[in-house]
Amino acid sequence: MNTTPLRLLIHGASGRMGQALQRLGSEADSGCDVVAAVSRKVDARVLEGIPQFAASELHGVPEFDVAIDFSLPQAFDAILGLCVARRVALVSGTTGLSDAQKAALDAASVLIPLSWASNFSLGVAVLHTLVERAAQALPGWDCDIVEAHHTRKLDAPSGTALTLGEAAQAGGAAPHYASLRAGDIVGEHLVQFTGMGERIELVHRASNRDIFARGALHAARRLHGRAPGRYRVADLL
Ligand SMILES: NC(=O)c1ccc[n+]([C@@H]2O[C@H](COP(=O)([O-])OP(=O)(O)OC[C@H]3O[C@@H](n4cnc5c(N)ncnc54)[C@H](OP(=O)(O)O)[C@@H]3O)[C@@H](O)[C@H]2O)c1
Repeated sequence: MNTTPLRLLIHGASGRMGQALQRLGSEADSGCDVVAAVSRKVDARVLEGIPQFAASELHGVPEFDVAIDFSLPQAFDAILGLCVARRVALVSGTTGLSDAQKAALDAASVLIPLSWASNFSLGVAVLHTLVERAAQALPGWDCDIVEAHHTRKLDAPSGTALTLGEAAQAGGAAPHYASLRAGDIVGEHLVQFTGMGERIELVHRASNRDIFARGALHAARRLHGRAPGRYRVADLL
């Protein structure tokens, strides 16, 4: 059994997700060693034993095995470029990517193993399957996806809502979207199928963002050493 810790770079390290990733990735039983934490700007060179780097220093970071990126679309091209240049794996949960950025992910997957997902929780991976099956079984029913998040979330509808919508479309439905921004809601997604006189509601509620961080860390462990390509959460969890 290989006990060498997985060397991680965390991109977007000062953010809500980045802080959870630094904390969980540093736990003694994580199997990981966080060798670089990158944020737009830094105040200290080392925090809790983790070397900190500014975005402008990205190309000078030490060697790493996998990058985990939970940042913002404007920061995404740089981390994808670094992973391709160094031929290392990338796990990214950054949402709100442009069509050009999604195409760049496909192009990069010829060269490196990568996993991009709008949601790294196991529950949402299962919800995708349920939504597609419900859509197939309920032709002609209305399909509505309602998502709620904290007020600091920038993109709407959420990446998760759009991915659930793709699952509904794959099952033959034509989903409509609604977004709520309120308080400190971590993330809630309702997929509702409505027929004449009856309604089905499929709901996922995240109460703690550690679930996304644990899923991303798990995906990083599973991605390391794989052949280049795009891997879904369901392939890795
Ligand atoms: N896939 C999933 O499971 C999942 C779950 C939750 C969230 N998300 C997504 O993950 C992303 C981050 O969410 P969050 O709530 O953690 O956001 P956040 O708290 O706003 O954090 C954003 C991070 O990005 C950094 N950043 C901004 N510009 C940068 C640049 N040019 N170079 C490097 N870093 C830069 C920020 O650094 P500064 O603080 O220095 O500005 C900060 O560390 C969002 O896209 C969100 O939708 C995905």
